Amino acid sequence: MNVLNKIKNLLLFNILYKILDPIYVFLDKRHIRRSKNMQMIPNALLRRGGAYSYAEWSYIIGVIHTVIENNLNNKTNLQILDVGCGAGLVLNAVNQFIGKSGGYTGIDVMKSEIDFCKKYYPKKFKFIHIETKNNYYSPKQEKNIAWKFFDNSFDIITALSVWTHLNETDARFYINEVSRVLKTNGKAFITFFSLDDDYENFLKKNLTLKSNFHNQTRLQYVYNKKAYDSDNWFCTSWAKVPERAIAVNYNALKEMFDKSNLKITKHYKGTWKEVPGVFFQDIFVLQKI
Ligand SMILES: C[S@@+](CC[C@H](N)C(=O)[O-])C[C@H]1O[C@@H](n2cnc3c(N)ncnc32)[C@H](O)[C@@H]1O
Repeated sequence: MNVLNKIKNLLLFNILYKILDPIYVFLDKRHIRRSKNMQMIPNALLRRGGAYSYAEWSYIIGVIHTVIENNLNNKTNLQILDVGCGAGLVLNAVNQFIGKSGGYTGIDVMKSEIDFCKKYYPKKFKFIHIETKNNYYSPKQEKNIAWKFFDNSFDIITALSVWTHLNETDARFYINEVSRVLKTNGKAFITFFSLDDDYENFLKKNLTLKSNFHNQTRLQYVYNKKAYDSDNWFCTSWAKVPERAIAVNYNALKEMFDKSNLKITKHYKGTWKEVPGVFFQDIFVLQKI
């Protein structure tokens, strides 16, 4: 990219966007009529995490709300744990399941995200910083720290784009934690890059092309490097640390869930491997048995 293009991109897509977005979001929220889910979306100066655009936050909120609703049988007043809450995207999607007697707790290894959420969202929502190390997000913290929650204390657990940043040891450790703190029959909604038959078919396509489903090239999602010494957890060759983007063989995922008493009740295929799906990553709905 030449210098002129770089300057144009910086001015248009960064500076101008950040100036116009807060005005647009302020005005747009006054035109939202039939959904309360978008009320708390922060403006562009504050949005971060896996998605950045206001439209994309709204879209993902709708998708996650729908997926949860479809798997809940009309339950409400839920105690919800959101692992890797980031800037609170999922909170916007689950808000309506909390009801009068439920609650929401967001946890994250990044103190900056937790500090932001504590300041930005109403005080009835809890946010807790977890001192755990993640080589990409929190490299200076300690290894695998158990959550300070009682056993069987949450009705649902969400983790959007979090296990896609965990190496095998961490993934297994925290899946056990999910099972420990989830109530019996409670459900976890966790996203992964699952390496399955659809992925094998994806590898046979022309990978140099841009995706039909997202705005990146297909090559970006080829998991061809071992994540550390694991036989089943893989990362992309462009990742400077494996935790930047991690995918797992389907059979290893299944074995990990089985060991933790979590049964797959639904698998929504992710569009990242060029199949039509509801969300970019694979969403697994897991029930504690
Ligand atoms: C791609 S972001 C997604 C954030 C948010 N869920 C969203 O969808 O906008 C991944 C988040 O997971 C957090 N994270 C990584 N490892 C974690 C761990 N072991 N426990 C809790 N959070 C973790 C990161 O700090 C980061 O905020």
